[in-house]
Amino acid sequence: MLSALTPQAPDKILALMAAFREDPREAKIDLGVGVYKDATGLTPVMRAVKTAERQLVEAQDTKVYTGLAGDPVFADALSRLVLGDAWPADRLACVATPGGTSAIRQGLELIRMAAPDAALWLSMPTWPNHPAIANYLGVPVREYRYFDAETGGVDFAAMMDDLGRAATGDVVMLHGCCHNPTGANLTLDQWDAVADLIVERDLLPFVDIAYQGFGDGLDADAAGLRALVSKVPEALIAASCSKNFGIYRERTGLLMAIAPSAKRRQVTQGAMAALNRLNFSFPPDHGARVVQMILTDDTLRADWAAELEDVRKGMLSLREALATALRARTGSDRFGFLAAHRGMFSLLGATPEQVEVMRRDHGVYMVGDSRMNIAGLNAATVPILADAIVAAGV
Ligand code: LMR
Repeated sequence: MLSALTPQAPDKILALMAAFREDPREAKIDLGVGVYKDATGLTPVMRAVKTAERQLVEAQDTKVYTGLAGDPVFADALSRLVLGDAWPADRLACVATPGGTSAIRQGLELIRMAAPDAALWLSMPTWPNHPAIANYLGVPVREYRYFDAETGGVDFAAMMDDLGRAATGDVVMLHGCCHNPTGANLTLDQWDAVADLIVERDLLPFVDIAYQGFGDGLDADAAGLRALVSKVPEALIAASCSKNFGIYRERTGLLMAIAPSAKRRQVTQGAMAALNRLNFSFPPDHGARVVQMILTDDTLRADWAAELEDVRKGMLSLREALATALRARTGSDRFGFLAAHRGMFSLLGATPEQVEVMRRDHGVYMVGDSRMNIAGLNAATVPILADAIVAAGV
């Protein structure tokens, strides 16, 4: 039976990770997978995480199962972090999931369970795992235009035009902040207009928020999502703690569903818990417990938020430095969008051939669509990258 299996296409981001590891060159630069790195190239364990883990080892006296939805204190703390003043007390259903990827997966399974014919509208481009999971589950995928390659910004008119063609009940996937891969984000006014369109056309928003705190700050990054949530009757939200708590391998995520009424919340919660049972029974607890400890302890929370703020500002100054280095080399502001983008990623706008030239001649690794992880840079590698970009003729 296993001989019937056919080779699976490798995920382009993960394949790049492997290629980078195998490159023997000392001076190579990894701008591939979305992992934060400090100036020395290390992905550190955050201070508050270390402290919480120490406390946990001392205090934890059982590893017995939690509930199918995980610990409700985790769901409460993380959903409040994401939803802030838009937290809908009696309409919110939550399940903990193994990372943000599973939150997406469980959300799509929920959609398939409730409305098997609903199409999923994805921004063009988007994180490649969005269409990959949807295709695997048989959820019909449609694309909406999003990125304007000329300006490096959002082509909002095209986006609204495409979403205007969505059928009643279709699902619109939005990136909560720090759009992956482009780095170009909606303004608050644009979020409002998208929310109006969603209400008018009776669509379901599904927001993927994996980088809260990496763009303009914890609250600012969630402001668009909160405005949306306060307008729409129903929403799905997938949150990841991988990046903003730096607990990538702990697999810590949360699927939130805002139901149209308190009564529907109960049924929704039950369906989400049942899907957890079908896929993995109980979600992993370690990362979720660490996050819950940090968010519910004033000292730990303040330390975590301060370190996250340093990370965010560090990425912003790398953006500024790269845009300045390119301005100096090209004599133009063609790459000014790099400083305007937010989050870990920017789509540079290079062709696959130019990306290959940068990898071959300069040891610069970025995803084939020219997505760069800005956190992979440091003060010493910014000029090397700027030279490579110019030499490759981008
Ligand atoms: C990325 O986009 O690089 C990250 O979200 C990591 C991943 O799983 O692809």
